[in-house]
Amino acid sequence: MEIIILPTAAEASEVAARLIARQVREKPSSVLGLATGSTPCKLYQLLARMHREDGLDFSKATTFNLDEYVNLDPTHPASYHQFMEENFFSHVNLRRESVHIPDGMVADVPAHCAEYERAIRKAGGIDLQILGLGSDGHLGFNEPGSSLASRTRIKTLTERTRSDNARFFTGAQEVPHHVITMGLGTIMESRMCLLLAFGKAKAEAVAASVEGPVTASVPGSLLQFHPQAKVLLDAESASSLRRAEYYQGVYQNKPSWQTDL
Ligand code: GLP
Repeated sequence: MEIIILPTAAEASEVAARLIARQVREKPSSVLGLATGSTPCKLYQLLARMHREDGLDFSKATTFNLDEYVNLDPTHPASYHQFMEENFFSHVNLRRESVHIPDGMVADVPAHCAEYERAIRKAGGIDLQILGLGSDGHLGFNEPGSSLASRTRIKTLTERTRSDNARFFTGAQEVPHHVITMGLGTIMESRMCLLLAFGKAKAEAVAASVEGPVTASVPGSLLQFHPQAKVLLDAESASSLRRAEYYQGVYQNKPSWQTDL
């Protein structure tokens, strides 16, 4: 795991944007795994600007989103379909047929989940997966207790996550109980994982994920087993890390051939 701590979320988002831009420039047909939530909003703005001003080209890229609510119309303002449209898709030149988000309205959820897994495999697997972190340590919507080998499937949200996400709805009662999410096993097959977590509310989940034992009780901790995981933090989300100074020293003193960010 590479832990990168920057003073602010904006600076950490810039590093993430440069990493993704490099990935897309080196391999225009990259398969990107996308996340929703407040955390990646700035990152999507930066990528949109790179597209507009520097010609960053997404026309050959393919994307797979992590998750979606079940039984929430894709036109609902809090749906992840809407989120992606507003925050990213409408600002870049991804081809519509190359964009994938789980469909929470399907009648046969297990068949749809199996098809989602097949589509990821058919696309050649995910090159770079963007991840946020729930305040309870969840990745995608893999709540604590999720199988570390899980695949795309239906999950039930914890009350904590429902209340964390209530701000996107008119009230906590409106937040669906069920979601479709890529599994932890699916996420772990991505060639690179880029976890972003910002703000004081994430400090405990970050410390447990980075420095705690690997456990299904903290899904983020599974990234300790990933061969290419980068964790981008701001000062607040890094504030409970015991080895923060060491990580900062590593980042500031990288050999010149590694300082590409
Ligand atoms: C949601 C999403 C996750 C996201 C998490 C954190 O539950 N399903 O993918 O990482 O929230 O959200 P935020 O970035 O808004 O704190």
